[in-house]
Amino acid sequence: MLVSAKDMLTKAKQGHYAVGHFNINNLEWTKAILLTAQELNSPVILGVSEGAGKYMCGFNTVVAMVNAMLDTLKITVPVALHLDHGTYEGAKACIEAGFSSVMFDGSHYPIEENIEKTKELVAVCNKLGLSLEAEVGAIGGEEDGVVGMGECADPDECKMIADLGVTMLAAGIGNMHGKYPANWKGLSFETLAAVQAKTGSLPLVLHGGTGIPADMIRKAIDLGVCKINVNTECQIAFTAAVRKYIEEGKDLQGKGFDPRKLLAPGVEAIKATVKEKMELFGSVDKA
Ligand code: 13P
Repeated sequence: MLVSAKDMLTKAKQGHYAVGHFNINNLEWTKAILLTAQELNSPVILGVSEGAGKYMCGFNTVVAMVNAMLDTLKITVPVALHLDHGTYEGAKACIEAGFSSVMFDGSHYPIEENIEKTKELVAVCNKLGLSLEAEVGAIGGEEDGVVGMGECADPDECKMIADLGVTMLAAGIGNMHGKYPANWKGLSFETLAAVQAKTGSLPLVLHGGTGIPADMIRKAIDLGVCKINVNTECQIAFTAAVRKYIEEGKDLQGKGFDPRKLLAPGVEAIKATVKEKMELFGSVDKA
């Protein structure tokens, strides 16, 4: 059964580790992540962007697929199904469809409007026992066609949003989606420390997990981050493995053209990436 992310993140914050949020794109992705979480006895958050939801034939399809997989694969570790960077309307649609967690990304609105909309969703989520992620300070890079500049959040605005009763808060600290450019200045630990000081025990979320060096990840966890989002790194690993299979001509040998064979190396590559991240984040055996 899907669970809210609240308990797993509260435990992670207290235990000084982070739970991985891994974005899913299809059945293979979902299966690879769930099996790895179960094997490592780790809690996990499956992230679905609105674009990925559309690609997978809508939020209802995603909920049905994930619920059926939890059952069939006998997954017993805590799993949250979470909308990633949702609009207000998208958040409502996911709640309706049966997601156990949603993110409302109001970071591009003026703070008053972000507060207003986040507040409404806090009430809805609290009533239904769902977890809610809010965002202050846009994350840089491109996701679903939206390009942000990698801002540093205002700690006072973070406090205003935290005080609304959200479950977790994503604060921009110079992080970006996708690969980091060569001239990236790194995470702003000064901002993170200031946000943590204002928001206390509230779980903090680090987006753009791809390509952040291990020492920065550890420092971010020390400073209160207990959910880390990873998407691009699984995509790169998956595609490289499938490309290798084709370049080695394996699709031309025997029944190598069978999609189940073609995608198998990609699935293994996702599993290896997720395992590496769970080990780095410290969530192994924390289910
Ligand atoms: P990356 O694609 O950079 O790993 O970021 C993922 C993310 O933050 C999803 O919200």
